[in-house]
Amino acid sequence: MTLQSPSTDLTSFEGKVAVVTGGSRGIGKAVCDELIRRGAKVVIGAISDKGREVAKQYNKEAGKKVAVFLRTDVSRYDDNKALFQLAENEFGGVDIAILNAATCDNADNLFSPLDDKLEERIFNVNAVGLIKSSKVAILHMAKRGGGSIVCTSSAAGFYSVPALIAYVATKHAVIGYVKSCTFLPEVCNVRVNAVCPSFADTTFMDNVKTIDGAPEPFYDFVDTVPTVPMSVIIDGVFKYLCDNTANGKTVMAYPTGIEVIEAPEWHYSLLTDDSLKAQDIYLKKAIPHSKQQLSRALERYEKEQKERPI
Ligand SMILES: NC(=O)c1ccc[n+]([C@@H]2O[C@H](COP(=O)([O-])OP(=O)(O)OC[C@H]3O[C@@H](n4cnc5c(N)ncnc54)[C@H](O)[C@@H]3O)[C@@H](O)[C@H]2O)c1
Repeated sequence: MTLQSPSTDLTSFEGKVAVVTGGSRGIGKAVCDELIRRGAKVVIGAISDKGREVAKQYNKEAGKKVAVFLRTDVSRYDDNKALFQLAENEFGGVDIAILNAATCDNADNLFSPLDDKLEERIFNVNAVGLIKSSKVAILHMAKRGGGSIVCTSSAAGFYSVPALIAYVATKHAVIGYVKSCTFLPEVCNVRVNAVCPSFADTTFMDNVKTIDGAPEPFYDFVDTVPTVPMSVIIDGVFKYLCDNTANGKTVMAYPTGIEVIEAPEWHYSLLTDDSLKAQDIYLKKAIPHSKQQLSRALERYEKEQKERPI
């Protein structure tokens, strides 16, 4: 089945369909506001039911259905599939995915209790959940002829924050994932990029606490650091949504504005004459190979949708 996209050119957002995880408040909600302002339709997936009210308000203001909400836990494939299928059922397909849902709870330090749940939950939402959302997003976008994914990582995806070790590791993981999407534009016309805000003025860190309740000196420091205006984060998101050439890129959002962070090139010691020749052959094979795998993945997904509709 092929769903026709009006266009994958995202210089205009009128009529485009965007799935936004974590769109019920904070940064995700600000991105939804801007998408709606530019004429897009939004499908909000979040763990908190507050997103229902947000969607209702957009519809009320527009005088027609421009938004829907589904309670979603991004750590579960079934929830992600239901969210993207809702976008297809309500608005005909998916052009944009803003993968923004994350938690900072259990972001504790090196000396927290040796409890499996502590690190597992934060990884399952912030890193594994984002990968699950994007794998589902890519299938829906591939069917439509292309799309653009922007992931919310963090300045913590590059910096050291000893008070938030597990959180920091999840945000580094997001950067690694985004960089690994190298061939996607050639395979299915989908682009994946990341925005990395520094501290923003949201309630994100309100629930972070040390397990034993002892005060964490880091938070006294955080209170002194200037926050990044929401408008700068929105600039970063729309920079990548609109730039048809950007893929696997990361942009920092600082209080002073956005700054692109370039990944290092492969080190010269890894690139011998032999490995360069082999790399050429690999690059020629990689795209047809990935196209074949995508086609099998789409068949599997469509069969599953027919046999076990969500
Ligand atoms: N606030 C900051 O200082 C800051 C800085 C850098 C990066 N970020 C990143 O920005 C993104 C948004 O954060 P925010 O500041 O708007 O926080 P927020 O707490 O206001 O919003 C988080 C959103 O994620 C949703 N969410 C949480 N767990 C979920 C799950 N399992 N499944 C689905 N949805 C889930 C929540 O319902 C909410 O809508 C996050 O990825 C965060 O890591 C925030």
